[in-house]
Amino acid sequence: MMNATYDDFKKALSGDSSSKLILDLKAFHQNMDWVLKNAGDKKIRIATKSIRSSEILKKILNHSPLFQGLMTFTLEESLWLRDLGFKDILLGYPSVDTIQLEKLALSPQEITLMTDRPEHLEMLEQIAKKNQSYFSICVDFDLSMDLPGLRFGVYRSWIHNEKRLHTFLDTLKKCSHLKLEAVMGYEAQIAGVGDLKKPLIKTLKALSVPQLRKRRAKFLQIIQSYGHNIKIINGGGTGSLNSTNQEQCISEITVGSAFYAPVLFDYYEDFKLKPALFFTSPIVRFPDSGILTVLGTGHIASGELSAIKQPLPWLPTGLHFLKHEGAGEVQSPLHYSGPLDLKIGDPVIFRHAKAGEICERFNHIQVIQDSKIIEKVETYRGMGKSFL
Ligand SMILES: Cc1ncc(COP(=O)(O)O)c(C=O)c1O
Repeated sequence: MMNATYDDFKKALSGDSSSKLILDLKAFHQNMDWVLKNAGDKKIRIATKSIRSSEILKKILNHSPLFQGLMTFTLEESLWLRDLGFKDILLGYPSVDTIQLEKLALSPQEITLMTDRPEHLEMLEQIAKKNQSYFSICVDFDLSMDLPGLRFGVYRSWIHNEKRLHTFLDTLKKCSHLKLEAVMGYEAQIAGVGDLKKPLIKTLKALSVPQLRKRRAKFLQIIQSYGHNIKIINGGGTGSLNSTNQEQCISEITVGSAFYAPVLFDYYEDFKLKPALFFTSPIVRFPDSGILTVLGTGHIASGELSAIKQPLPWLPTGLHFLKHEGAGEVQSPLHYSGPLDLKIGDPVIFRHAKAGEICERFNHIQVIQDSKIIEKVETYRGMGKSFL
């Protein structure tokens, strides 16, 4: 099936030259189906940071019963989503927001907090105890691979070894107001690192996968030996779906980016997603022959700095940013070498490098199907919410 063409976008916009965020519904459905096809026997938890629209989260959850629960990124967001009716919320990162924790202590259901340090446990225990309540918690253990002079992975959890896991679990024994119900290990070096035409990365991934599987199984065995009633064993992300789904001990995989398929996910050798989320910007000037200028576009993705973190001019083909100007704050010149006779007011279509961050720049997502806008849904920002 074809992706939306430049003409489809132009027809859908029908002369409206303001900047817009657009979801191609057909591509979004193809991506949801790709996730389901590759989930194996695992449930899929949705990474909200990579979606940032409660309406889109609902569309995904309603698409299949295999999509279950959310992995959120702040506690304030988690509480807000729970108020909107979402259930089974695993906060993917530790919260030290005592105001929100106090709120959660008053009604702790549906939200599980992330922990990896004894200090997290002590702080949560104190708040839960003061409120005569409890918190459901998840332990996050590290699955990166340490090589001489190189960490193939990320710095996240403190729990890199069995000794630290025992220290954590021994501290937990003293916390009668905390229930350890979930376990997470995120293999960022597999899930978040593109390997297309990168033989060294491919080799490192091939070395890392069996090692992390062993580590995960061992960590789990230790946690279970302490007698906890673990309901969730979470791992993976979009880029590791096909490998995390092979691990028997895993109960669910978190996926977010696959649904919008941003540019960074074009760089994986083993799978191809359909670009589904785009933003548009109108041509406002032609400063010289072969150069056109659009408004804004300076939406640079987070993480390590590199040129790929700029948005990608997608349609019409033949556009690229000027090396010395890049994607600008209020306007951006682009070289154009394509065949079209572009005019002032015509749209240029871009893709963001990452999935959810672009939603912080737009109030709405326009949903298009068959070159028509069929629906307009709010982003978090459109609902007056900005969490990070
Ligand atoms: C804990 C955790 N799980 C899963 C993911 C995967 O998210 P995505 O599918 O959007 O890459 C991430 C992304 O950073 C993460 O931090």
